[in-house]
Amino acid sequence: MEPFLIDLKEKRDERGALVAIEGGDTVPFQIARVYYLYDTSPERDRGFHAHRELEQVLVCVHGSCEIVVDDGRFRRSFDLARPDCGLYIGPNIWREMLRFSQGAVLLVMASMHYTESDYIRSYNDFLAEVRARG
Ligand code: TYD
Repeated sequence: MEPFLIDLKEKRDERGALVAIEGGDTVPFQIARVYYLYDTSPERDRGFHAHRELEQVLVCVHGSCEIVVDDGRFRRSFDLARPDCGLYIGPNIWREMLRFSQGAVLLVMASMHYTESDYIRSYNDFLAEVRARG
């Protein structure tokens, strides 16, 4: 499945704003793990891997960043700059996290616990696996 943006439906009133995310509803999988990236900087890119099974949704809850996604044929770029906008990335998509604004915070919800065997960390290995799959 291609990556897509999810409108996280902000609830705003005079006190401020709130976003609630429910596994299996707001995001299309049960959430097994949440992590967040912070103390980011524009000079420090991250990611540069794909997952074999894992699905995730990324939300830049503070600041902004660019997420480049690549299915082995096409590359696309998403600018994440809103706490009410999620980016779904499914299995077998190479991702690069670039241009973090100073102090940006990127929240990630994932469908699986952390396991290194689910990672493809070399772009050449990623292309080989995608092409082998047809
Ligand atoms: P890494 O995969 O390099 O992060 P990114 O994809 O943002 O570039 O992970 C950084 C370190 O954190 C690495 O030692 C693995 C570890 N880690 C965990 O222990 N649990 C996790 O859920 C994640 C995502 C990473």
